[in-house]
Formats: sequence, C-alpha cells, structure tokens
Amino acid sequence: MGIKPLIFIHGGAGNYRLFSEEALQRRRVLLNEIAVKSFEVLISKSALDAVEYAVKLMEDSGAFNAGLGSVLTLNKRVEMDAGIMDGKTLNVGAVACISNFGNPISIARRIMEETDHILIAGVSAERLAEFFGFKPDFSLITEEKLERFKKVYDAWIRGERKRMLKIREIVMSSPDLFNFLDTVGAVAIDSDGNVASAVSTGGYWLKLPGRIGDVPLVGCGFYADNEAGAASASGVGEAIAKVTLSKMCCDFMRNGFSAQEACEKAIAVLTRRIGDNTAGIIAVDKTGGYGFAFNTAGMCRSIFIEGMEKPAVAIFPEEPFIVD
Ligand code: GLY
Repeated sequence: MGIKPLIFIHGGAGNYRLFSEEALQRRRVLLNEIAVKSFEVLISKSALDAVEYAVKLMEDSGAFNAGLGSVLTLNKRVEMDAGIMDGKTLNVGAVACISNFGNPISIARRIMEETDHILIAGVSAERLAEFFGFKPDFSLITEEKLERFKKVYDAWIRGERKRMLKIREIVMSSPDLFNFLDTVGAVAIDSDGNVASAVSTGGYWLKLPGRIGDVPLVGCGFYADNEAGAASASGVGEAIAKVTLSKMCCDFMRNGFSAQEACEKAIAVLTRRIGDNTAGIIAVDKTGGYGFAFNTAGMCRSIFIEGMEKPAVAIFPEEPFIVD
C-alpha cells in the first residue's frame, strides 16, 4: 500500500492547565482549521508548501507565540526565529532575531531557496526580507502584550521570578516563566514519500535581546530527511538545542524506530539529561507513520491524514487523539 499523505501541526508545548476553557477552545478551533487548509496544500502542491503554509497561518492567527502572537524580550521588543527543511534535498532555510515581519517562516523559505546560506539573523535578515518583497509589519507589539509584559516583569522584579542568570536555574526554580511556550510547527509527508518540517517562534517572555533559541538551528527545532522522517519541536530552546532534539528523533527513525517510538525515545533522553517540563516534539517517519511526545503538561496538536473525515485535535495527554 502506498503512503497516505499527512500533515501534523503543533501549536506548542507548555502548561495549558493554566489556560481558560475559552482560550483552549480558540486554539482547538484554529488547529482544526489550519490542519484542513494545509492538507489541501499538501494534496495540491507539496509537503514543503504545506508545512510553510500551516506555520504561516499559525503566525497570522495571533493565538500562538509566533508571528503576530510573539512574546516580548526584556527590552520590550519582538524577536522571532523560524526554520524550514526539505527532506528530499536536505535544503534548509532559517531566520533569527527578526523583528518587524509577520511571517518569518516564509522569509526562512526564501533564504533557503534564494541564497547560498542556511541562516541569516537580525538587521541583515530584515534587509534581505525587504529585498525579497516582504512588507515590514510594525503592529506586532500590542497594548495587550505590553500589559502582559508588565505583569511578568513586575513579578520578576519582586523576586517571584528568579534573575535570568542561567536558563537551567530558571527552569528549575521558576518553571512558570516558561509556561507559555506556544512555538508553532508542522511536519508533512506526501504520497511520494517526500517529508518536510517547519517551526516558528517568538521565543519566551523576558528573553535577553539577541538571544537565539533552538528554532532556527537545524537539527534542534526542526529536521527533515526522506531517508528517516521529519520532526518539529517546541519548548525551552536551550534544552532542545543541547540534545539536538529533532535530529535525535530523526536518527531514531533512521535506525528503524517508528515515529511514535522515536518521539518517546527523544523526549526520554531530554528528560533524563536536562529535566522535566522542557519540551515536546511531533514527527512523521518515512513510511507515513506519525508520532508525538512531550514532558510538559500539554501540547497543542492536530493531524490530518488522507481518508480522515476531519483532523484529530488534542492538547492534554489524557485526551483521545483519534485517527480513524
Ligand atoms: N523553542 C522556542 C524557543 O525557546 O525559542
């Protein structure tokens, strides 16, 4: 039997137990809609087009920590990272520390296709984006975000959050600082077995200006290779990067493990070596199998496989994630 095309998207791993039912429902509706729309792109175009489109829609939604919804740095700026990879060619494109553009994932793709490099950062990336025809968007810092910033910042100043000396100490002593890690991402496979991966983020609240996490680093936030599979991660970027989580997951698949086994093994290594409450990952293997695992309270996720009537959507581990 041939490979059934599938798109698997995530809206981030984090402590969704703190969210209101309304906020959770908003995410579920978006995950469902975006899985349907990006599946259409997968069928009519390619796995690469589908993962870019899925991430672009999540960036545009404002509901996740990417694009329009990106959180603020310690000096109240937006600094976003994104990465994309084509498993057929191993081509990679990524952008880091970009401030005034709504769709970093599409800039990453242009860097992949139209430059000789795989990662461009900061002001140079913004210049390049304008050269490519992307219009700057100065509406990413909203009143709502500034209010949220004040709450997070004041709590930090009052000593309710520890100083950001070392990320590990923050994760250990103040895990709620990382409660809202809604990085977005997607993996897909088409009927020819071509896989792709994409990921995009605003990082996390109060990160230092100039900080770059796992998301634009190939093998950390994303990886794709037709000979193994594709993976896309979400969580504390420093933790993900230390174990090169997405590459590790793909290497498990390369060595014959299913996508589900590979995700579980990769998250087990992360938990053992770095700690709990650090990340989640989704993957597709080269046979069209899918998998996910996380060591956080929840992970927003949605999958649409050819033949399904509608996507499966879930956030918490105990929720059914039914694929018919
Ligand atoms: N995983 C998102 C970040 O740490 O930037």
